[in-house]
Amino acid sequence: MDLYEYQAKQLFAAHEVPVQRGELATTPQEARHAAEALGADLVVVKAQVKAGGRGKAGGVKLAHGPEEAEARARDILGMDIKGHTVRSVLVTLGADIAEEYYFSILLDRSNRRHLAMCSREGGMEIETLARQRPEALARIPLDPVTGIDDGVARAILGAAGFDDPTARRAAPVLTRLWEVYRDEDATLVEVNPLVQTADGGIVALDGKVTLDDNAAFRHPDHAAFADTRAEDPREAMAKEAGLNYVRLDGQVGIIGNGAGLVMSTLDVVALAGEEFGVRPANFLDIGGGASAAVMAKGLEVILGDPQVRAVLVNVFGGITAGDEVARGIVGALDLLGDQATKPLVVRLDGNKVEEGRAILAQAAHPLIHMSDTMDGAARLAARLAAGAVDEGGATPDPDPAATPARP
Ligand SMILES: Nc1ncnc2c1ncn2[C@@H]1O[C@H](COP(=O)(O)OP(=O)(O)O)[C@@H](O)[C@H]1O
Ligand SMILES: [Mg+2]
Repeated sequence: MDLYEYQAKQLFAAHEVPVQRGELATTPQEARHAAEALGADLVVVKAQVKAGGRGKAGGVKLAHGPEEAEARARDILGMDIKGHTVRSVLVTLGADIAEEYYFSILLDRSNRRHLAMCSREGGMEIETLARQRPEALARIPLDPVTGIDDGVARAILGAAGFDDPTARRAAPVLTRLWEVYRDEDATLVEVNPLVQTADGGIVALDGKVTLDDNAAFRHPDHAAFADTRAEDPREAMAKEAGLNYVRLDGQVGIIGNGAGLVMSTLDVVALAGEEFGVRPANFLDIGGGASAAVMAKGLEVILGDPQVRAVLVNVFGGITAGDEVARGIVGALDLLGDQATKPLVVRLDGNKVEEGRAILAQAAHPLIHMSDTMDGAARLAARLAAGAVDEGGATPDPDPAATPARP
């Protein structure tokens, strides 16, 4: 889960990383009150969206006093930044910036290490810096046990070319940011810019944190960070049902059992879909040993997606038995009744496949098409999604592997 800047700063503050005081506001009036409460001559109004480059996009504005804060909030709220609508702003104290630095800790998966990155040239996009002046960005692999103690912090700052007095003041901030990373189970903690103020203080002026969802069970308090409003309603529904669902941008809904099978199904549909100009609409793994109810829930999630035009159910029966899957499909269609309008291609194999096929054949639902092979099923689903086949399964170029589920 990615956090908003204001949430990242809450975690920073809890670990004694210096941040500017600030308050969240969702209306211009609230922004005015926040500025009044801060009681400073200079405040900064900052768009809260989970995207970088807010400053460049006009989402970070200085304001002199509450009235200006209200006006700037009015400008920024509702703005679109890289496809994200601004629904709240952080009103925070203006810092007297002397220098802007860059610091981050991340999980470097390709090298199976935690990695610290540090530069004296912060503020700008780090990708640009890494490309244009890679020598200005120190990259220090971290020992997971030691992490960043004072010695490591000094080594990182030394490698980035900081002078001794600055390094002495910045080192404790780096060790605390490591504590945020370790104690909160983050996979990314990025501060850009980490600034030195005119009076020599070191402050995290921005914050980007990604929490490891696999460690969520250790952090019940992190649940409060979840952004239910920005979350895709279908993803929320799937999560609540315990389904592994990721929405994509295509037209062919996909359900399978086991992440490996679903991934290959995505590949096969992507390939088959090229000819028809369609792509997979989602990843959905109903898992091993899924019951009819789970299958029905999965179908409900996918069929409710307006971008989906056809669905491919690809199940290899192991612990998940074919008859359960078939009952789930029939049950879901019964439940949806007239609302079910999208064709379903079903490829069943493995455990209890005959029973499953018999159940589907008996149901004789006009939307269900059977297919014996994965390739045939993918082709048919892609073609149906593209509207190249009529619902009865009669195709101008019939697929020998596909037969409508009629007795
Ligand atoms: N509290 C603040 N006081 C003064 N300047 C700020 C403050 N917050 C941000 N800025 C300035 O705005 C720039 C962009 O802000 P930042 O929080 O890094 O957003 P983003 O990275 O999304 O552009 C910073 O590099 C800094 O120069
Ligand atoms: Mg920034």
